[in-house]
Amino acid sequence: MTDATLTARAVRARLRLEALSGIAWLPVSQPQPVRGTPGTLAEWAAMAAGCRACRLCEGRHSVVFGEGNPAARLLFIGEAPGADEDLQGRPFVGAAGGLLTKMIQALTLSRDDVYIANTVKCRPPGNRVPQPEELAACRRFLEAQVALIRPKVICTLGRTAANALLNCDAPLGALRGLAGTRYQLVPGTGEEIPVIVTYHPAHLLRHPEAKRDAWTDLQRLLPYLHAAP
Ligand code: URA
Repeated sequence: MTDATLTARAVRARLRLEALSGIAWLPVSQPQPVRGTPGTLAEWAAMAAGCRACRLCEGRHSVVFGEGNPAARLLFIGEAPGADEDLQGRPFVGAAGGLLTKMIQALTLSRDDVYIANTVKCRPPGNRVPQPEELAACRRFLEAQVALIRPKVICTLGRTAANALLNCDAPLGALRGLAGTRYQLVPGTGEEIPVIVTYHPAHLLRHPEAKRDAWTDLQRLLPYLHAAP
């Protein structure tokens, strides 16, 4: 029997199983890095583009992998793409994105200087908070982004991003302003990246009175941005 016949049989078996079980979605084996691990951001983006590791793939228009300077000193991590991001395939391009752009400019940087990513790369339906299994399924992409960019500092936007990156369930208020918060790049090696936790720009749009505190948070990024390389 040829390889093509075997593949066709496997596909038919899978379709029969899905039809029998009444579900249109099953986890499938993951695409592998194009040329070994860790690969490049472009290779990980290509893998993400074909990812069907969680149900979020069902409703997406695009996979919003992330964008910016692949050698950025500062990495922003948001929650998940919204409707605008899903349509354009770029992170933070809607109203919250407009405010994030202003926050970046307040640091005398541009969007091209930093890298912007999200905890999950596909839009959750109705912009709900990503579920634990969705965060888990997407985590390897976020870990790859951090590992390849190796920023000097990470700024998480909102509770979902802070909890996901720091592997905790603490409320945002307990994490903001905490000194010594670190992301372990390679567990056990002592390679760590400082993490500054602040509000999500969408929260700041709803609660402009919190912008002053957010600015205090952003200023804590400065020593890391301007430290010698
Ligand atoms: N909110 C997010 O958390 N990420 C985006 O990309 C857009 C809005």
